Amino acid sequence: MINKYSIILLLAALANMSCVQKNIEIGEVAIIPQPEQLMVEIGYFEINENTTVSVESRAQLALANLFFDQFTVVSGWKPKVDIGDKGDIVFSTDATIVEEAYNLEVNPKKISIMAGSEAGFFYALQSLKQLLPVSFYSGKLQPNIVWGVPSVRIQDKPAFEWRGYMLDVSRHFFDKEQVMEVLDFMAESKLNRFHWHLTDDQGWRVEIKSYPKLTEVGAWRMDYNITDENVSNWFGRPIQKPGEKPSYGGYYTQEDIKEIVAYAKERFIEVVPEIDMPGHAQAMVASYPEIGCVNSEKYVATGGVVKNNTLNPGKEETFVFAEKMLNEVMDLFPFNYMHIGGDECNKSQWLKDPDAQRKIKEEGLKDVYELQSYFIKRIEKIINARGKIMIGWDEILEGGLAPNATVMSWRGEEGGIEAAKMGHEVIMTPSNYCYIDLKQGHDDLEPNLGYSQLLLSTAYSYDVIPKDISEEEAGLIKGIQANMWTESISDWGKLTYMTFPRLYAIAESGWTSPEIKDWDNFTNRLQTQFLRLDNQGVRYAVSAFSPWIDHTGQGDHIEIALKTEVNDLEIFYTLDGSEPTMESKSYNGSFKINHSTSIKARAFKDGEAVGYTSSMDFYVHKAAGKLDESPDLKKLTDLNYGKLNKSDPNWVSFKNGMEVTIEFDSLTAVKEVKFDALRFTIAGIYPPKNVEVHGSENGKDYYKLGETDKIDISHVQGRNKIPFQIGFNPVKVKSLKIIGKHINPIPQEHHMSGANATIKVDEIVVE
Ligand code: ACM
Repeated sequence: MINKYSIILLLAALANMSCVQKNIEIGEVAIIPQPEQLMVEIGYFEINENTTVSVESRAQLALANLFFDQFTVVSGWKPKVDIGDKGDIVFSTDATIVEEAYNLEVNPKKISIMAGSEAGFFYALQSLKQLLPVSFYSGKLQPNIVWGVPSVRIQDKPAFEWRGYMLDVSRHFFDKEQVMEVLDFMAESKLNRFHWHLTDDQGWRVEIKSYPKLTEVGAWRMDYNITDENVSNWFGRPIQKPGEKPSYGGYYTQEDIKEIVAYAKERFIEVVPEIDMPGHAQAMVASYPEIGCVNSEKYVATGGVVKNNTLNPGKEETFVFAEKMLNEVMDLFPFNYMHIGGDECNKSQWLKDPDAQRKIKEEGLKDVYELQSYFIKRIEKIINARGKIMIGWDEILEGGLAPNATVMSWRGEEGGIEAAKMGHEVIMTPSNYCYIDLKQGHDDLEPNLGYSQLLLSTAYSYDVIPKDISEEEAGLIKGIQANMWTESISDWGKLTYMTFPRLYAIAESGWTSPEIKDWDNFTNRLQTQFLRLDNQGVRYAVSAFSPWIDHTGQGDHIEIALKTEVNDLEIFYTLDGSEPTMESKSYNGSFKINHSTSIKARAFKDGEAVGYTSSMDFYVHKAAGKLDESPDLKKLTDLNYGKLNKSDPNWVSFKNGMEVTIEFDSLTAVKEVKFDALRFTIAGIYPPKNVEVHGSENGKDYYKLGETDKIDISHVQGRNKIPFQIGFNPVKVKSLKIIGKHINPIPQEHHMSGANATIKVDEIVVE
């Protein structure tokens, strides 16, 4: 109820508000991807509650409102947007400006946005957003801020028409709201193709009304989720057993998909669905076994151990199924590209399957590669019949490329080059530059989410057009895409950690001409971008700004070198376990340690800590150099420590269990033996199942000093280092024997079950 008293209070509040101090905050000029031409000028434009925006059409009105509505969230008001030409911020069409390109001019009096397409206006607004202060990104009400936009003149256009991000929602499901968040961050980076990897062995994610079991059965698997980033055990998961009820997964209804496609459209993003076949199809085959081959798997896959998962190209019902299912998918996605996978098809089932074998004979095919090509060409006809273009991974080149296909080159650039030479369109996404599920830093200092390494600087260095191709062939390279495979990405925080900042590097290769790209300039702009992410509460990786601690064993000491991927940072370090500050030792060249040492290092820029603190322990120990005379074993005591990477040459392999004898020059006091064993189950590398340490005073007669507890085999899956530490009562010995029994055979439901486990260990530290 309003009474006299409440009106007085209201007036008092208004009077108070009018004298509230307003603070002007002015944004940085740090736009990612870097615009083609950018001039920074003096002064700034102030966006406040009196600012007006003029647009020319209802379409512009919609996209302007989508943008300026963000002011309501952070300011409680928004600039008034109307059709006309008298505003402080003015949209004007210039038909000479190419599709997606724009000009943006900001001066203290006015902001002018010029474009020849709606997409161009949209991208101008994305740049304008990045010119606003980072607090604009917080999503919190900040009524006392007046938003200052620095004066600039920008002329900008994209280098490539296909600027993509692929999300695998099969290995781990991400829901509708999360997909919309993906579309938001894509739009802010001026990416325009969302490749949605909707199906794989581990889950089918799209409602198909004519084949309901695809989601009733295919969308669910056993819940063997990963929580610990350093014990990622995707490849070693147990398989589903009869009677077990799968509960992990999810799918999008057709209504969800329509909503997502519309949301993407508003952000000038086309959605490219992928239905992966004829391989990577275990979820499909588990749902409809009649389209599979002999020995097909009965259940949706739980992890990476996938064998009998292919569709059967020998059966006509497979094509009836594919036609009906794909048509339903194509009904949902208006974009004129349809991705059918075609990658990594394990063709061994086709060698045994009578229908597949009969088809090979009937069609006069040479081998299973030609059978895959036969399958893909028939699928292409289904897609072309809808006036759409089929895309496949570069394996679709094998056995003969379908006539109208676009090739997505992932196993390096070679497939893309070959396809372009044959006159086909290509999208470049080579795994060594574009797979953002790979580790993004030093093997021992990153969460263990990826298999190998893709550093930010490597991603940034990619030049989309391969060397040595003709201009005409180059014209067929449509663009670039970042791929997010989610085997080990089980939640949103991991997804954003792996995505940022590498997505920005790839977005810049897609948008900005290669001549303008500049690593140092990019990493400077990233620091502002990190503040924007901080404001949004988004997790990201600062690996490129964090010190690597590299080491080289040198007989009786270790040489330590520190570096960062980002240039011109100052590194400070400590050797006593304390946190480095700018008062700590400044790094200016490699240094020696000659006793066991804990190293911590941190990088600084302009007096501020950047990246994270890196820390590693190194042991300079009693057995150092004692196996120098043994070519096979000398790496075990050379003070070079194996990294969490199965290809690191410092690991010493034992195929039939390990036995290592270390001889000392004289009786030596010992009390502990420790080492790391590598666990890399996909390659059959498991730690020893138990370890004994024996000592001898004369080098002949040994007695047991200590042993480990038995290792619990049910936990020996994954990719990490297993520390072994065997302590015993101090004794003086002339020699030590370290004996480790290997797992033999590797048990059922473990990766490489049935085989003998390989042991890989490094640096046997004796204290
Ligand atoms: C792929 O990474 N299998 C396309």
